[in-house]
Amino acid sequence: MSGLSQRIQALKASSTVAFNAKALELKRSGVDVVAMTAGEPDFQPPQHVLEAAHEAIRKGLTKYTASEGTRELRDAIVAKHVRENDLHYTADQVLVSTGGKQVLYNAFMALLDPGDEVIVPAPYWVSYPAQIELAGGVMVSVPTSAEEGFVVDPERVAAAITPRTKAILVNSPSNPTGAVYPEGVLRAIADLAERHDLWLITDELYEHMVYDGAFTPVARFHPERTLLVHGASKGYALTGWRIGWGCGPAPLIKAMNKLQGQVTSNANAIAQYATQVALNEVEATAAFQAMTRQAYRERRDVIVAGLNDVGLPTPMPHGAFYVMADLRPIDPDETVAAIRLLEEAHVGVVPGTDFEAPGYARLSYACSMEQIETALVRIGALLA
Ligand SMILES: Cc1ncc(COP(=O)(O)O)c(C=O)c1O
Repeated sequence: MSGLSQRIQALKASSTVAFNAKALELKRSGVDVVAMTAGEPDFQPPQHVLEAAHEAIRKGLTKYTASEGTRELRDAIVAKHVRENDLHYTADQVLVSTGGKQVLYNAFMALLDPGDEVIVPAPYWVSYPAQIELAGGVMVSVPTSAEEGFVVDPERVAAAITPRTKAILVNSPSNPTGAVYPEGVLRAIADLAERHDLWLITDELYEHMVYDGAFTPVARFHPERTLLVHGASKGYALTGWRIGWGCGPAPLIKAMNKLQGQVTSNANAIAQYATQVALNEVEATAAFQAMTRQAYRERRDVIVAGLNDVGLPTPMPHGAFYVMADLRPIDPDETVAAIRLLEEAHVGVVPGTDFEAPGYARLSYACSMEQIETALVRIGALLA
């Protein structure tokens, strides 16, 4: 029997998943591990959304839907972006997919020819390089530093543009850094895309988790060349429900749906209905988001102060639910340091190796305050 494809052999497994699995394995063996590895809210979804899923089943909304998503959900997405972002899409400019992850994959497959380059600021979410490569493209990363708060300098983005550049990707608030890009930076990057006739892909999964300053909907600047990627996972605490959406020019959305129609067809029908309710019941959802945002903000303040106190330099992020801690006081090699944190302090973190953050690790504070405090005591003891 012949072997596996070169494509799949070249594909890297997610290091976040790998370190999360390591932490869970240790936990299963009876060790009390504080796992700060996973990228998902620790809150249950809001009650009205849970009710809506039951209602969808009772109403028999359990059949295939249109591949691009129900008209009702796409209308709810259109209304959300008018209401919250002053962005004006029509329903044929919206595609509903199985998570933001599938929206991004559809986009890379629809946009990239072999060798086409996508510029991505580093540190970045680990699925970007994997998906770009699967689509035959090449990721060109642009470094940022802790001193800059991990916000990319648009001049460095400009310097990375070549005749093969097809798109620039921005992710604000960012996974893994928590950086929130100021409006001026986003406008400068959008203008670069315009000047060089490039696509702009904006990953806005963490829109509702901004603690200082404001979220900038970058699609406002040049909507005709921007794909907005969003979803229900983070801001609505619906990770396992697998609903994401893309908004952009109709020909791109249609091309992405052509691929989706042959690969998965529609996202889960019950979750589509529940997401529609999450978006349309504006007040109840906003109250949930305000409550979770306040909890994340308090945890962020405690974890950043605590890590700096115990001797791991950690810049203050302004969004998402991650911090980037400098692990070099533990070991110059971030993987060695992360393994020591797990095995000796029983705290699970994701080393920065795979997202181009040498010396650093990502810690998620989407866990209880008690767990954060326990983790800080243990890390302090390790360093002492
Ligand atoms: C930056 C970023 N983009 C996209 C996603 C995709 O999320 P989902 O597929 O659950 O919508 C994630 C999830 O971790 C993320 O962190």
